[in-house]
Amino acid sequence: MSDAPEIVVRDVRSSDLTALADLILAFRSERGEIGDTAVETESVRQAISRCQELPGHELIVAERSGEMVGYVALHLIPFPMLAASEAYLSDLLVRSSSRGAGIGTALLAEAERRARRSGCVRLMLNNRLASESYARGFFGAVGFRERRSFANFIKPLED
Ligand SMILES: CC(C)(COP(=O)(O)OP(=O)(O)OC[C@H]1O[C@@H](n2cnc3c(N)ncnc32)[C@H](O)[C@@H]1OP(=O)(O)O)[C@@H](O)C(=O)NCCC(=O)NCCS
Repeated sequence: MSDAPEIVVRDVRSSDLTALADLILAFRSERGEIGDTAVETESVRQAISRCQELPGHELIVAERSGEMVGYVALHLIPFPMLAASEAYLSDLLVRSSSRGAGIGTALLAEAERRARRSGCVRLMLNNRLASESYARGFFGAVGFRERRSFANFIKPLED
């Protein structure tokens, strides 16, 4: 029998709010994205709460030895032109000290299972070209294909 700690993948609970916000804030801090920490913390907590409250949005978390080590955010998007729904994965994050242990793959598998159960016909996500996971070909290795015929556009709406 393996001594590796068991990974538990489950729905987020309200009691996870602080641990999940800390995980996200630590990652954003590593990337140098954090401004006023109190404002950022409150904004992250509100976004987590909205995902918990609104139908069609799911946060799935991974725990190892009782510690929050990762999460994925799944959004079910009705897509008339596709005549079906697409599942958008806005976030997939594993704590840097816990990477390479299968947690990201386990979170994706659970997101895929739930998307299929909800009748979605595909998963979609963005992966930064500069990220380590893109360089490693992580998503290609777990069954995604890169769409080179589409450009990704955004229009920031904040002042
Ligand atoms: C992308 C990410 C979620 C992957 O999570 P993970 O738990 O490390 O992934 P897994 O352990 O399931 O799989 C990683 C693969 O890379 C390999 N790997 C080797 N060293 C690794 C390391 N230091 N870190 C991550 N993966 C490593 C793993 O062995 C595995 O390959 P294998 O299946 O051939 O063995 C994680 O790296 C992460 O949070 N990155 C920052 C955020 C990000 O880029 N998110 C994706 C865009 S939304």
